[in-house]
Amino acid sequence: MTKRYAPATERNREPLLQVLQSHLPQRGVVLEIAAGSGQHAAYFAPRLAPRLWLPTDKDAVNLASIHAWCAEADSESLLATQHLDVLETVWEIEQQALPEDVTAIVNINMLHIAPWLCCHGLFAGAKRMLRQGGIVLLYGPFKEQGQHTAVSNESFDTQLRAENASWGIRDVEAVTEVAREAGFDCAEMIQMPANNHVLVFHYQ
Ligand SMILES: C[S@@+](CC[C@H](N)C(=O)[O-])C[C@H]1O[C@@H](n2cnc3c(N)ncnc32)[C@H](O)[C@@H]1O
Repeated sequence: MTKRYAPATERNREPLLQVLQSHLPQRGVVLEIAAGSGQHAAYFAPRLAPRLWLPTDKDAVNLASIHAWCAEADSESLLATQHLDVLETVWEIEQQALPEDVTAIVNINMLHIAPWLCCHGLFAGAKRMLRQGGIVLLYGPFKEQGQHTAVSNESFDTQLRAENASWGIRDVEAVTEVAREAGFDCAEMIQMPANNHVLVFHYQ
C-alpha cells in the first residue's frame, strides 16, 4: 500500500480542525468526499470523536493511500475507506448500512480541480444522504462576484485551466445557487489562511 503525501494538508489541517470542531454536529457519520491522500482523515477522525469519519474518493491510487494512512492512524472513529464518485447518480454507500446516520459531508479542495458538474453531483448526493439539519462543509479557494480574492488565486486559476479546461476556481454565488436548488442554505462563509474559505451549508 502506497501512502501519498500532500504537504498542503499539514498546513491547513489545524485551522480546518477548529472549524470542524465548532460546526459539525456532535454525533453521526461525517462523510468525507475527495479524501485525496487520506492525511486529513487520519488527522481529523481521532480528534473529532465520538463522530465517525468515513473517507471516500473516486480514484484507486488515492483509495490505497487513504487506506494506508487510516490503517496507521488506527482510530476507532475511522470507518472503512470507500469508493465514491460524486458524478454517479447513486453512490455505492447509499446501498449500505452505516453504523449511524450521515450528519455531515466534508469536501476539501475538490470543486476547482474537477468539472463544474461535480458541484451539481455533490449537492444532489448530499440531498439523498442527509436529513434536515445536515451540514455540507466545503473548503477551497473561491471567487466572489466573479472576482478573485487574491492575485495568487488568479494565477492558480490560470494554471488550473491550462491543465484542464473544465477545472477552475468557482464563484461562491454559483456554488450557493446549486446548493440552494438542492435545498441547502449557505449559512456561513469563513475566511481561512492562504486565501481559502470554508462554506457551511445547512439542509433545510
Ligand atoms: C486536490 S485533490 C484534494 C484532496 C484532499 N481533499 C486534500 O485536500 O488534500 C482533489 C480530489 O478530488 C477528487 N475528485 C475529483 N473528481 C471527483 C469526483 N468526481 N468524485 C469524487 N472525488 C473526486 C480527486 O480524486 C482528488 O482526491
